[in-house]
Amino acid sequence: MKQKILVFAGSTRQGSFNGRLADTVTRQLREQDVEVTRLNLADYPLPIYNADLEREGTPVQALQLKQLFHEHAGWVICSPEYNGSYTGLLKNTIDWISSPVKGDPQWQDALKPFAGKVVGLLSASPGQLGGLRSLDPLMLLLANLQCWVTPARYALAQAHEAWDAQGQWMRERDANGVRAVLEQVIWGSQRLPR
Ligand code: FNR
Repeated sequence: MKQKILVFAGSTRQGSFNGRLADTVTRQLREQDVEVTRLNLADYPLPIYNADLEREGTPVQALQLKQLFHEHAGWVICSPEYNGSYTGLLKNTIDWISSPVKGDPQWQDALKPFAGKVVGLLSASPGQLGGLRSLDPLMLLLANLQCWVTPARYALAQAHEAWDAQGQWMRERDANGVRAVLEQVIWGSQRLPR
């Protein structure tokens, strides 16, 4: 069976650089012997997490995302940087997915969607650092949820100049940096036991 890899961005902005990076990654992965799902978080809108709200019932979108995260052995996250960290959208999504559903035998284990996943981290920003500063806090959050974050990571600087009109990489260093992360996600997710 082919390895399943989930790709998503921490921005739902139209024209998002991280969304574009996630699209590029999806295309590159589809040339490999893996099954790729390109998730758009805009398709799973969630309110800001609140335990009172949750008590009335976990939103169906959160349950669907739990299932989606759970069934993919590897993930690639394209993270925008807001104020030196990852976005509220990413945090809110992960908070919902990591909250146990009391009394639900399938989802009462908070870590089930996360534990043992191999996660590659990318970022994109028009700035010089490419959103790199969002990746350390994101790595810590994922490690806390028992994910295996790949040692390779890549921050795409000056993202507004990264692609040509055909959507091809303009700079070889970006092509190489992203490829190195994808290789480790494929390698790791094929080896970790499920
Ligand atoms: C930003 N941006 C930004 N960029 C950066 O490199 N470092 C930073 O700390 C920040 N901080 C920041 C805060 C807030 C509130 C916003 C709205 C933006 C700029 C950011 O990188 C830019 O808007 C990207 O285009 C966001 O990613 P997407 O939506 O293009 O994927």
